[in-house]
Amino acid sequence: MENEKKVLYSGMQATNVLTLGNYLGALKNWVKLNEEYDCYFGVMDLHSLTVRQEPAEFRKKAKELYATFVAGGLDPKTNCIYYQSHVPEHAYLGWILDCFTYTGELSRMTQFKDKSAKHADNVNAGLFTYPVLMAADILLYQADLVPVGKDQKQHLEITRTIAQRFNQIYGDVFTVPEGYYGKQGAKVMSLQEPTKKMSKSDENVNSTILLLDDKDTIIRKFKKAVTDSEAEVRYDEENKPGVSNLMNIYGAITGKDNAEMEREFAGKGYGDFKMAVGEAVADELAPLQSRYRELMTTEKAYLEECIKENDARASHTAMKTLRKVRRKVGLTDIPDYH
Ligand code: TRP
Repeated sequence: MENEKKVLYSGMQATNVLTLGNYLGALKNWVKLNEEYDCYFGVMDLHSLTVRQEPAEFRKKAKELYATFVAGGLDPKTNCIYYQSHVPEHAYLGWILDCFTYTGELSRMTQFKDKSAKHADNVNAGLFTYPVLMAADILLYQADLVPVGKDQKQHLEITRTIAQRFNQIYGDVFTVPEGYYGKQGAKVMSLQEPTKKMSKSDENVNSTILLLDDKDTIIRKFKKAVTDSEAEVRYDEENKPGVSNLMNIYGAITGKDNAEMEREFAGKGYGDFKMAVGEAVADELAPLQSRYRELMTTEKAYLEECIKENDARASHTAMKTLRKVRRKVGLTDIPDYH
């Protein structure tokens, strides 16, 4: 058998500037999945075009995200890390699947509604069919599992609907994927408004830890983190969201559970606690940051080689699925399409 491992597929929009939330909620967990699954991780640059991009900045961000994936510990020799746009089959299958998706279904997507409100001057058709391209991403690789955040749950559901609909007409063409939602510790909230998710677009820079923030910046932001007036390190999401968020972060990095953390900081003030969390985060990110700098400078050639190898791997699988889909729907054979 060519491959007995289950296929796992995920990705992020190419314009994402990663935060500690993306790291603890996604990247760090993805690294652990590599042994067990055959993993694909895409830098989703076609999806980013649904919002107007400045070309040079866009290209730079896409490269930075690729390097961040690798620096974060995803090995491009064992994981297929690639740019979505390098495999044209995504857009091609996206079109075919558009024809198997109802406009009514798409207009119910909450992300479409939110984004249309936010970009009212550019409610383009790409924004509307965004979930279908995402379905194509996943279905091209016959993915069994898709680790995503809760905000993508609806998109995963429509992917399953599209796959099932297609299979019902043409037989078993697509694997119907399951969502894989992160466990505890994965959710990182704003340091300033801990009932809100940590986001790179937060206006208050102190709310968000960026993966490439230096140690002083990280410690400074944690020192300013909003807590409460109780001065007791105790987990209580509802009444102590700030402290609980810091505990989630500290726990996700050190592996300690709430009881252990509560014991560790018993009788100590929030100052010590915040300092410990800041130090833990800075130490955790230090190797990623130095690897990132290497990849962006002295190891550029290595990255280029990985991109090329992984393009070929991704294309091989994607073409195989697309060939089957083309045949099933009755498009004529392309003589030398392998
Ligand atoms: N829509 C996803 C997001 O914004 C990114 C994405 C695109 C994706 N295609 C995907 C995630 C396929 C998982 C699988 O987070």
